[in-house]
Amino acid sequence: MKALVVGSGGREHALAWKLLQSPRIEEVVCVPGNGGTATLPGCRNVALTMDDVEGIAQVALVNNLALVVIGPEQPLADGLVDHLQAQGLAVFGPTQAGAQIEASKAWAKELMAQAKIPTAQSAVFTDAAAAIAHVQSQGVPIVVKADGLAAGKGVTVARTLDVAIDAIKAAFGGQFGAAGQQVVIEDCLEGQEVSVLAVTDGQTIRPLLPAQDHKQIGEGDTGPNTGGMGAYAPTPIVSPELLDRIQTTILEPAIATLQDRGIDYRGVLYAGLIITPSGDPMVIEFNCRFGDPETQVVLPLLETPLDQILLACVEQRLADLPPIEWKPQSAVCVVAAAEGYPGTYAKGMPITGLAAAEETGAVIFHSGTQVKAGQVVSNGGRVLGVMAQGDSFDAALAEAYGAIALVAFESCYYRRDIGFRIQATKPA
Ligand code: AMP
Ligand code: GLY
Repeated sequence: MKALVVGSGGREHALAWKLLQSPRIEEVVCVPGNGGTATLPGCRNVALTMDDVEGIAQVALVNNLALVVIGPEQPLADGLVDHLQAQGLAVFGPTQAGAQIEASKAWAKELMAQAKIPTAQSAVFTDAAAAIAHVQSQGVPIVVKADGLAAGKGVTVARTLDVAIDAIKAAFGGQFGAAGQQVVIEDCLEGQEVSVLAVTDGQTIRPLLPAQDHKQIGEGDTGPNTGGMGAYAPTPIVSPELLDRIQTTILEPAIATLQDRGIDYRGVLYAGLIITPSGDPMVIEFNCRFGDPETQVVLPLLETPLDQILLACVEQRLADLPPIEWKPQSAVCVVAAAEGYPGTYAKGMPITGLAAAEETGAVIFHSGTQVKAGQVVSNGGRVLGVMAQGDSFDAALAEAYGAIALVAFESCYYRRDIGFRIQATKPA
């Protein structure tokens, strides 16, 4: 069987890598892929853009690709799945209607209210004056969110009124285009953030291992938000009992309410949660896709062949799939970025040390690379995710840092404190 993976990040490299470990998968085609998928044995890239729906359908049909997996949110929100399904293809990922759960925060909040899912109190605004009056009456801290997709930059956690008002003005002033013409303002929740990615066939939903990522660029979780600077799984913050509670109070009600709305959601439902100091899980966002970098630590721990899980979702027989099996290990991923990210940064820097780093047992997932004249060069802000597995969190962490030290490119930056929240929770 052959599969198609749509996307060009570390998440898609990890998906292709994991699919190729399945006995049934002979080849993976990536559109457009990156330098990592170009050099992964059994995988090849096809250079199409992700909005080329006709081209992607043709690649899948001509090559007889039996499973299509969509990585990023934008093509899902644009309706790529609807288009491919109409051509008779087996696609893992929600339709445009389902992708609204990520593409419109106001829509997601309404769904959560209907489903009685625990989340922050919020209000939706379509003009700046009313939004400003609201934050003035509510006070700070408060969270201002552009409604639509804003490449992870649409959320401001405001600790002063000035910051909140500036965020409102920026959104309505067009900083995020149409995505900011509606704004959700919500209470600020305090606690630890965790990512629970769950797979669903629209009727049954099953969580994968809970993970945590570090969204901010600076050590100690400081500075601007990024796509994610490192991740680990499973996180001890989520006990099996807490995961059961997340299943019954968040994941199952979300799927039931999607069904009520006539939405047949087959793909990943990613719950971004805050665990409050009293131990209650509350939703801060839903995403309609695998998380990145979380996927780079969750998939390596998976024992059950990935294609079996994804096809069970696509064919709506997840209830019949035996329990998902996991390696009794931990995985840690440290992201190497180009200095300047998430602001401006250089591209095209040659990368060395990849083979030496992999010889340590680590796996290097490429996020922003390409192969130019036989050389892997950087091609994005987040360049590589260096992932290691171990029998303990500490062993995985040490191996990931040992491996990343062997990788080099000009102005390579990575955080040295991935997992510090885990270290802090350990008894002295
Ligand atoms: P999102 O784009 O919705 O993932 O939000 C980006 C980040 O903003 C999250 O990862 C949180 O760190 C933070 N955030 C979002 N909503 C809230 C909230 N209600 N309270 C506190 N922090 C939040
Ligand atoms: N790691 C955060 C995300 O994928 O949205």
